Amino acid sequence: MEAEKEYTGMPRIGDKAPEFKAVTTQGDIHFPNDYKGDWVILFSHPADFTPVCTSEFMTFASMEDKFLNANCKLVGLSIDGLYSHIAWLRSIKDKIEYKGMKNVEVKFPLIEDITMEVAKKYGMLQPNEDSTKAVRAVFVVDPEGIIRTIIYYPLSLGRNFDELYRVVIALQTADAFGVATPADWRPGDDVIIGPAGSCGSAEDRMQGKEDMDCKDWYFCTRKLDKDVVLKRVLKK
Ligand code: BEZ
Repeated sequence: MEAEKEYTGMPRIGDKAPEFKAVTTQGDIHFPNDYKGDWVILFSHPADFTPVCTSEFMTFASMEDKFLNANCKLVGLSIDGLYSHIAWLRSIKDKIEYKGMKNVEVKFPLIEDITMEVAKKYGMLQPNEDSTKAVRAVFVVDPEGIIRTIIYYPLSLGRNFDELYRVVIALQTADAFGVATPADWRPGDDVIIGPAGSCGSAEDRMQGKEDMDCKDWYFCTRKLDKDVVLKRVLKK
């Protein structure tokens, strides 16, 4: 039972990101302390020198500047050693061409987690999927070190990195403007206003007294200009 707990216990949305020190392909890191003030995506992948992971790393590395422009740093992890990581990243750069991407250099840190210490801390090991490989876990951590989104994929399914970018922008938009973002939201789409807190305010909304479009007292949206969002969320 204890062993099961060790493998499957995981932090939850709203928790402080569990702290760890690790060796990476970009030097040692102390997580999340080194990332205070930045958003960060901590993600795991099953193994070096595997094809789905290779396609993911190439895609993420190609989008790194876009994430950095949204104040978001990337940190990868797998249960492999540092020299394996280095050899794999060199192979990706020198030999792999995929969907028009080639000579792709992975500049973000890739954690060596041969002891599985970090993978266990973050519940990245899902023993019924695989007992020695991390699944494709994604933790979006805010500038205060709080976990804001968790997404898990199985070994066979490569992630959608446009969706991860959308998540980072949507979380920052919600924080900056005090709104929520509806299904499939993208910058420029209407945003959701929080629920009415009293019968009076529910009535005011339905009377059109507030600057929002209410279909019923609990379903109110407002316009939020794309440029206003991007100016607030992106560096340039
Ligand atoms: C891959 O990245 O290709 C992969 C890794 C582990 C299991 C299945 C696929």
